[in-house]
Amino acid sequence: MEEVIKIEGGQKLKGSVRISGSKNATVALIPASILATKGKVNIFGVPNISDVGHLSQLLRSLNVDVIQHDNEHLEIDPSVMVNIALDHPAVTKLRASYYFMGALLGRYKQVNMKMPGGCYLGPRPIDLHLKGFEALGAQIEYSQGSYKIFAKELIGAKIYLDIPSVGATINIMMAAVFAKGRTSIENAAKEPEIIDVATMLNKMGAQIRGAGTNIITIDGVEELVGCTHEIIPDRIEAGTFIVIAAAAADEMVIENVIPHHLEALLSKLEEMGVPMTIEIDKVTVRGSDHLKDVDIQTMPYPGFPTDLQQPLTPLLTRANGESTVKETIYIERFKHCIELQRMGANINIIPASAIIHGPSRLYGDKVTATDLRCGASLVVAGLMAEGVTEIHDIYHIDRGYENLDGKLRDLGANIWRENVE
Ligand code: EPZ
Repeated sequence: MEEVIKIEGGQKLKGSVRISGSKNATVALIPASILATKGKVNIFGVPNISDVGHLSQLLRSLNVDVIQHDNEHLEIDPSVMVNIALDHPAVTKLRASYYFMGALLGRYKQVNMKMPGGCYLGPRPIDLHLKGFEALGAQIEYSQGSYKIFAKELIGAKIYLDIPSVGATINIMMAAVFAKGRTSIENAAKEPEIIDVATMLNKMGAQIRGAGTNIITIDGVEELVGCTHEIIPDRIEAGTFIVIAAAAADEMVIENVIPHHLEALLSKLEEMGVPMTIEIDKVTVRGSDHLKDVDIQTMPYPGFPTDLQQPLTPLLTRANGESTVKETIYIERFKHCIELQRMGANINIIPASAIIHGPSRLYGDKVTATDLRCGASLVVAGLMAEGVTEIHDIYHIDRGYENLDGKLRDLGANIWRENVE
């Protein structure tokens, strides 16, 4: 038996939806909390997604006390934690397990953990993370799928990232909080989630400056203490619902949004002719049948997010003309197009790009989510399609979207979960 999501397309959605806390901030903030050598870390706005459950299991395997209160509040007490080998099966459930490398190296100068897992989006090395750790004075051994990283002393260093990697930027930031002297990360990634992690670490007593710019400095301190932190809204969930509204709503209000975090998407949707009203913390979207084709190129923040090109692609099938999506971050991130072709989309896939010819009608079919944002794109397509769409491997969706089908049902979508043979 397998649980699938089924959608009968064509319903006109209306109403308002509240965006949850950012998954990509959350999966870094939870490991970062172990840098508090005394006191508790209380994190609010934690989304109810399976990644949080897996990271909490990893914390507990290190004897960190984790209480998942209701109303999105996680209480973490790392004061009596132990630095044993991190080989809990949950390590392989998500790539972001690698944040324990930076946090454990920062706190103990010693890490012993299995290689992290996560979505397959093509080659996803962690060479830049390891280069940063070595620059701080760590030695790295890798054997039988496990990393051993250790340092007699961590000394601040100047680290240049060949690619503005989100994960490497955050991991090095965490490894450097207790290092002697100043660390500077050059060509750092500028994603809002990085600012959120730096904000929480500074509340704990860290000395991090420049997060959100391409040069971040971290001045080592003696200790960090617990704090309280509210996670920023999830800009990728918000972008997904804004696209859903453009694709399937009469009128929909997306609340708990920071529009500044979505400028690239919003400007592309305006270019397509999607009617929107953008306010300080919400976006109102009205449906439209006259959409113009656009060209998208994914770039590091503040450019167009790679995570939103997949959910946007079904909407492009409705635009008049030829739209293109060019990936500069994950050049193989087009498996969703194969599923959309099965639903009737007219898409050519060429190296690192997809060309979407529109308008074309979509028809419900059996499809499979190959990764988190592919799953989201199939939900968007299912809402637009004629007939019933059956989405398999929906565990990908539950990793990163809190109650996606429930939120859509509240907006009038005919979407449900069903166990099938
Ligand atoms: C983060 O992944 C996000 N995940 C991804 O979101 C997102 O797609 C990605 O950033 C890009 O924005 C989390 O934050 C948990 P990167 P991350 O390091 O940090 C290459 C989702 O759907 N690279 O910025 O792993 C890498 O191969 C997920 O929520 C190296 O070559 O991404 C990629 O081409 C999917 N060596 C590029 O850099 C390294 O050491 C950007 O990767 C690290 C990365």
